Amino acid sequence: MKILVTGGTGYIGSHTVVELQNKGYEVIIVDNLSNSSADIVDNIQEISGIRPLFEEFNLINREKTADFFKRHNDIMGIIHFAAFKAVGESVQHPLMYYRNNLDSLVNILQGMIDNGIPNIVFSSSCTVYGQPDELPVSENAPIKKAESPYGNTKQISEEILSDTAKTSDLNVIALRYFNPIGAHESAIIGELPLGVPNNLVPFITQTAIGIREQLSVFGNDYDTPDGTAIRDYIHVVDLAKAHVIAVDRMIEKNMNKQIEIFNLGTGNGYSVLEVIKSFEKVSGQKLNYKIVARREGDITQVWADPEFSNKELGWKAEKGIDEMTLSAWKWEQALRK
Ligand code: WQD
Repeated sequence: MKILVTGGTGYIGSHTVVELQNKGYEVIIVDNLSNSSADIVDNIQEISGIRPLFEEFNLINREKTADFFKRHNDIMGIIHFAAFKAVGESVQHPLMYYRNNLDSLVNILQGMIDNGIPNIVFSSSCTVYGQPDELPVSENAPIKKAESPYGNTKQISEEILSDTAKTSDLNVIALRYFNPIGAHESAIIGELPLGVPNNLVPFITQTAIGIREQLSVFGNDYDTPDGTAIRDYIHVVDLAKAHVIAVDRMIEKNMNKQIEIFNLGTGNGYSVLEVIKSFEKVSGQKLNYKIVARREGDITQVWADPEFSNKELGWKAEKGIDEMTLSAWKWEQALRK
């Protein structure tokens, strides 16, 4: 069974390719390496003993994408990760985000319809909820106006998928991630932020290893127990495993509806200071940080109600926050060797 993983040399993509190959799927990766490198394919092979197929091109290129699907019309399912995902950058460069994230999806869907490829798992995000009115947040919580062009591309993408499903026999599963962190236990793959990390955990590990001077904590005046913002951090391997379950579900025709949506979170919220405390505990290192002003666009708190995913997918996040921060730290240390 051949599965296409777009963005498969990326952070979540590479961890998902490993899990797909562990499950016996044949994987082909398409990636334009705009935010990753080709040696990730070697790393995946090193972990799972199997080398995925790999083609490098940009999915916003209509002709190349159409040609790809004509050559690989035996693909049984697609997991679509390939997208730009830096919230701040999307505010500065909205058109770059709309073109990249939306044109690539439209080209992929056209290729699926033209070649009879039935199944797509879409990488969505809890950002579609904005700041939920009620916590924990479940799949039927209202979608709020996106706080950034990045978040808007996820909302629009879900609408494109829903509209396309209505007029075709495509099966769609949208997975709404919370905050993916950590790395594979082998420390051979992990989060590779090119440039200054936007996200909390890579900034923590780079500060601890000496690449960054000091972590800035964006605000401690939020309406939370310790004043810092709360997120539902989930181990990237737990997240990757959910994607394999979603592919199995589509291939085994176990879906209840043509388009299904699942929250992928642990159900536990941790504040920035709690993540720092976990990191200091597992690393045995004091972290150098200071409290600064809030970051534009950040919400106060969000964590998932994972009950629907747990029940429907038979999937549950297993790894706790200390295992997440320790795996991130081991990865950072391996990276710098
Ligand atoms: C987490 C917390 C920051 C950096 C991201 C993506 C979003 C989605 C989920 C994909 C916040 C604080 C951060 C720093 C800090 N991913 N922080 N200092 O913003 O929740 O969302 O993951 O869909 O697209 O943006 O994650 O890691 O940036 O921030 O204090 O140097 O850490 O304010 O409270 P976020 P994050």
